[in-house]
Amino acid sequence: MQIDPWSSHQFADYDRLRDEFGLASFEGVVDELPDPPSLFRRGIVFAHRGFQPVERAIRFDEDWAVMTGLMPSGQMHLGHKMVLDQVTYFQDVGAEVFVGVADLEAYATRGIDLEEGRELALEEYAKNYLALGLDPDDAQVYFQSKRSPVQRLAFLLADRVNLSKMQALYGFDGEDSMSHMLSPLVQAADILHPQLPEYGQSRPTLVPVGVDQDPHIRLTRDLAEATRLFSIKDTEHGLGVFVKSDEADRNLARVAERIGVAEDDIVEHLLDEAADVLTDLGFADLETNVGYRALYAPAATAEDRFKIDVPLARREQDLGELGLIAPASTYHRFQTGLTGDKMSSSAPETAIFLSDPPATAEDKINQAKTGGKPTAEEQRKEGANPYECPIFELYTYHLMPDDEDLEDIEARCSGGDILCGECKGIAKERADAMLNEHESDRAEAEAAIDQLVREE
Ligand code: TRP
Ligand code: SF4
Repeated sequence: MQIDPWSSHQFADYDRLRDEFGLASFEGVVDELPDPPSLFRRGIVFAHRGFQPVERAIRFDEDWAVMTGLMPSGQMHLGHKMVLDQVTYFQDVGAEVFVGVADLEAYATRGIDLEEGRELALEEYAKNYLALGLDPDDAQVYFQSKRSPVQRLAFLLADRVNLSKMQALYGFDGEDSMSHMLSPLVQAADILHPQLPEYGQSRPTLVPVGVDQDPHIRLTRDLAEATRLFSIKDTEHGLGVFVKSDEADRNLARVAERIGVAEDDIVEHLLDEAADVLTDLGFADLETNVGYRALYAPAATAEDRFKIDVPLARREQDLGELGLIAPASTYHRFQTGLTGDKMSSSAPETAIFLSDPPATAEDKINQAKTGGKPTAEEQRKEGANPYECPIFELYTYHLMPDDEDLEDIEARCSGGDILCGECKGIAKERADAMLNEHESDRAEAEAAIDQLVREE
């Protein structure tokens, strides 16, 4: 099985997907988060890669970033809102927010003009983001096409991957255009640039995505690893910090020249740098083995790995290297469309748009599929099925943040105590209220757009 991030495939079996792609379950992580919102409590965010450094940063109130990107195509619907709900939560618990407008990717893969993308991003996306609670004081929206450090980084990262790997990840063949093949590298640079000295420093970064984006995450994590001089491994002598080798030690030769150390001495020099970092962190009894390119910290355990890794990467940056920490990702389930098919901007009846007038949303809810029985009599007797009902999903994802409300409707539905007409009435009322509130928040958001959006 291969995931194609540009197809419109719908996933059904998330547990299988998680296992097959080696994603970690988010279940245990939720309990570590301060006041997790309903998206997390309800398992909508169901998996992650490499969340530990983020968890650490939240716990110790350390510097970290959350990054997302948007394709400027079409109108925002509730599916998009889900990502923003995560981003604003993470902003609340301490992350600096970066939002990249993927205008280069949209140009390459959807034929959307850069100027058209720019207008959509400003009018539709930036305004909605603010209305959904993004705080412009600690967030920025930028354009792939305008942020040259992102483009430069994409090029530097491209040096660390070859065509075979891109083909294995994405199934590219000789017919794909070069712009299409470049867009994942630009995305990797989007994700990693909050760690460049001009935007921050080496730091944990989180990217909340749908599973369709996982190939990009895997690529980006590998590329970040490839920028590192040091790796950390659990050994018999405690935690070991190793000077990595690469093809002909090209990286080491470059560093040696830059800092004016003889090539023969560079490994030892770097181990000294690492020892210095670990000593600052309070680790003692360090042992160096230059032949193994290793520095051992006998008292350090696997738990200390991320405590060490971030300062180590920063030291690499001090030496003029990229020193990028592999980003973490979270994965959410996709909401089913109101009609029971895939939710999609190009099929308006499947989705509630953030700018839908309440009457339009009501129509869509009236037309929506439900998990109800063919007759009222049957439903009263046997109950309906909330687990195959787009209306119940609407409650779960958006309209009933309060767990008690949701449990109540779940019980009444499966017990046959409520019919779908009445239930849809509740959904319409709540959707109305949400859209009306959003409309007035949008009007207020106008003033902050200039602060949020960086046109460089
Ligand atoms: N490829 C993403 C999409 O199709 C858009 C995107 C570009 C992105 N850069 C990103 C998403 C960085 C997350 C992080 O929607
Ligand atoms: Fe869905 Fe509500 Fe009908 Fe249950 S009662 S099937 S939740 S619309």
